[in-house]
Amino acid sequence: MKSVMVCLAHSCTCPGLLLAWCLLLIPPSAKAISVSYKPNIVILFADDLGIGDLGCYGNDTIRTPNIDQLAKEGVKLTQHISAASVCTPSRAAFLTGRYPIRSGMVDSENFLVLHWLGGSGGLPPNETTFAKILQKQGYATGLIGKWHQGVNCEHRNDYCHHPLSHGFDYYYGMPFSLMGDCQITQPPEMDRALQIKLWSYTQMIALAIFTLVVAKLIHLVSISWKVIFLFALFGFLFFISWFSSYGFIRYWNCIVMRNYEITEQPMKVERAAPLMLKEAISFIERNKQGPFLLFFSFLHVHTPLVTTEKFVGKSKYGLYCDNVEEMDWIVGRILDELDNNNLKKSTLIYFTSDNGGHLEAREGNIQRGGWNGIYKGGKAMAGWEGGIRVPGLFRWTGMLPEGKVIDEPTSLMDIFPTLVYLAGGKVPQDRTIDGQDLMPLLRGLVQHSGHEFMFHYCGIYLHAVRWHQMDSGNVWKAHYVTPVFQPEGAGGCYETVFCVCSGKGVKHHNPPLLFELSRDPSEAVPLTPDTEPLFHVVLKRIEKALEEHRSTLTPVPEQMSLSNIVWKPWLQPCCGTFPFCCCDKEKEKDEHF
Ligand SMILES: *[C@@H]1O[C@H](CO)[C@@H](O)[C@H](O)[C@H]1NC(C)=O
Ligand SMILES: *[C@@H]1O[C@H](CO)[C@@H](O)[C@H](O)[C@H]1NC(C)=O
Repeated sequence: MKSVMVCLAHSCTCPGLLLAWCLLLIPPSAKAISVSYKPNIVILFADDLGIGDLGCYGNDTIRTPNIDQLAKEGVKLTQHISAASVCTPSRAAFLTGRYPIRSGMVDSENFLVLHWLGGSGGLPPNETTFAKILQKQGYATGLIGKWHQGVNCEHRNDYCHHPLSHGFDYYYGMPFSLMGDCQITQPPEMDRALQIKLWSYTQMIALAIFTLVVAKLIHLVSISWKVIFLFALFGFLFFISWFSSYGFIRYWNCIVMRNYEITEQPMKVERAAPLMLKEAISFIERNKQGPFLLFFSFLHVHTPLVTTEKFVGKSKYGLYCDNVEEMDWIVGRILDELDNNNLKKSTLIYFTSDNGGHLEAREGNIQRGGWNGIYKGGKAMAGWEGGIRVPGLFRWTGMLPEGKVIDEPTSLMDIFPTLVYLAGGKVPQDRTIDGQDLMPLLRGLVQHSGHEFMFHYCGIYLHAVRWHQMDSGNVWKAHYVTPVFQPEGAGGCYETVFCVCSGKGVKHHNPPLLFELSRDPSEAVPLTPDTEPLFHVVLKRIEKALEEHRSTLTPVPEQMSLSNIVWKPWLQPCCGTFPFCCCDKEKEKDEHF
């Protein structure tokens, strides 16, 4: 009966007929499985991990036995695509099942991600995360680790973007993102381009105010002092944002929170991973009667690659590989905790990464970012496969096949409807959901994923479109815009560390660059009307799909606009009295590992 309900929840439009159809489809073994209808969900979410970094995706230097075990005991997706190639928009899409352009978690000015915990942008309160729906369905919901979806809107403690406002009952971790600035010994990572921009805005506004004041004094214009004052205030914001980007980032952005309470400011990065693991284990202990949702959002394998001593040098292939192996070990500890509590059959485990490896992360000649295998490009390169094709592993013992590999295009946005249906909930009907329920595909009940077209955005700009032509099995990809690599032909934006989405840093293509991924997965040789007879037909079909997609978009406020992204002292989460924010509420315990 339970399986019937699962099946119904998945696809029903016409109950009577479908019931019969569902009954036919359910293999006899599935009927006997004693899994509960609401499985526990454990999401293991890596940061900037490349698809080529894992043993189960072909890496033979890094050892990732625990993650490989998930692939062996479950389903491995080989064309699992994130909705953006950088974390803030990719994670927003993951949480909501919608392209980030629908929630406004994108920008038009090449900021790419949220830059300050004290900014006003973030996941809008009217967006619905899968956590919120699972919470309503009776799940205990916990998020441990990185968030990077904003904190406050209007004042210091409104928490409008905080995990606890988005469906999590429990939160422990970094509301921002780990970055070089968080570790005293590392060179700052805060975007130089942003600093320059902030400084030039400061100067421009100062000049404008000066002109206005002079013009008012000699009676050239009639403008009230109030307006000039507001203008000056605005200029002052840019000034302090610029000023704060030198040396204050560690205090402003690198903090740890437990629910609403700040426990470390600035955080001690070395103990973050052991504390997070401890939190995960105690969350499982507290909630093992189920059902629970544990979203474990790793700080691994983002630079500065904070790795405990036990793992430094362990891989013999450098700090990046050490860090991946430490992450794998943490995965193993969490799996042990589940298995030891007899939760193997009642828990769906999902492993993925927010975007591809960061090719430009280097220290001198030493690679500090991930490896995207045969795929071109990486983090912050929008359309190129290396930035968006990430690992996707599912294990649910007894319910999903073991050792199955699926090449169909799937999306990180699919997790939203998949989890909602498993929890017996309903997806919101008042908005477009771009994800598709994955259960029928994972279980082998259908052969094709529901994704015929996928749209690859960079900020608000569409860079590429993928067309999975179901009847032929071809996977076409048309690039309208690509980043300009520098130095030329280098395969990345090494001079600026990140590629951009618009302006001089990109090239527009007309006709678009067309590839067929099943023949040319590395996007090496663009097709032409001479080499591909279907060239114009394919582009025309893609063009039509793009038009249809665009007709479903409605304008929403940009969460990463300049006015939202700029640092606002009155929004800065602060432990103590602003601006003297400092605390350490974690006892110096070293019982980890
Ligand atoms: C394994 O990953 C490392 C680190 O990212 C990379 O340098 C190496 O080339 C990868 N090996 C294979 C065979 O993919
Ligand atoms: C959320 O609110 C914004 C306006 O603030 C609106 O544009 C958007 O459509 C709303 N989103 C949803 C899903 O209702």
